[in-house]
Amino acid sequence: MKKITSILSLVLIAVLAMSLFTGCGDKKKVIVMGTNAEFEPFEYMQGGKVVGFDVEIAKKVAEKLGAELIIENMQFASLITSLETKKIDFIAAGMTNNEERAKQVNFSMDYFTASQVIIVNKESDSVNSKADLEGKKIGVQLGTTGETEAKSVEGAEVKSYDTGYAAVLDLANGKIDAVVIDQEPAEKFVSKNDKIQILDEELTKEAYAIAVNKEDEELLATINEVIKEIQENGEYDKIYEQFFGKEEKEEE
Ligand code: ARG
Repeated sequence: MKKITSILSLVLIAVLAMSLFTGCGDKKKVIVMGTNAEFEPFEYMQGGKVVGFDVEIAKKVAEKLGAELIIENMQFASLITSLETKKIDFIAAGMTNNEERAKQVNFSMDYFTASQVIIVNKESDSVNSKADLEGKKIGVQLGTTGETEAKSVEGAEVKSYDTGYAAVLDLANGKIDAVVIDQEPAEKFVSKNDKIQILDEELTKEAYAIAVNKEDEELLATINEVIKEIQENGEYDKIYEQFFGKEEKEEE
């Protein structure tokens, strides 16, 4: 058995080596981005493809590496394990850089400032501020910082959904009192559903970063280089405009 496995792996190595040396160009190096395409405008489905702000940044990383970008779309809550087991090379998913996660992954430099906001149903006045969340039914996306935030609310009943969209649907249908989610996706949801609105109160200050496997120092360095480069050469601003329009991006 052992012998068979080692013969098999020899064959595999030979095949891999050959494909590297054939140089016909179609066996290009690949880099795998893990994401959860339920987070417009950072990653979402369009015409059967994952598109968005994060995808554009990932494309720059792939370009830098001379690699083909492959995107693996999965549950948000599965991303970190997939990275740890090397099913994916990096996570670009509007993922908030925090200490808890940094125990398991390495984060790049931050590339976007974000915050959690509260979405409510316009027809209900049960929640008008953060304080009103106490004891209420709050919908969140499973595994997100919004979930952590909601769970910290005294007496709240937190319902975790696979997608932010599912939480928003329940909110519009009056099944829950509020949804806690990142601001930009919240704005997208609200723009497509006139039953809901965002409260004018930010719950957190967070920043998104790209996550890589702890062992992948080199990839981390390249990603940081790319982020710095595109911020300096104006390409970041172009991507920003593509997904957020032309208006000012800092509100200091
Ligand atoms: N920023 C939040 C977090 O890191 C939510 C991210 C959700 N991203 C997604 N692609 N669904 O927990």
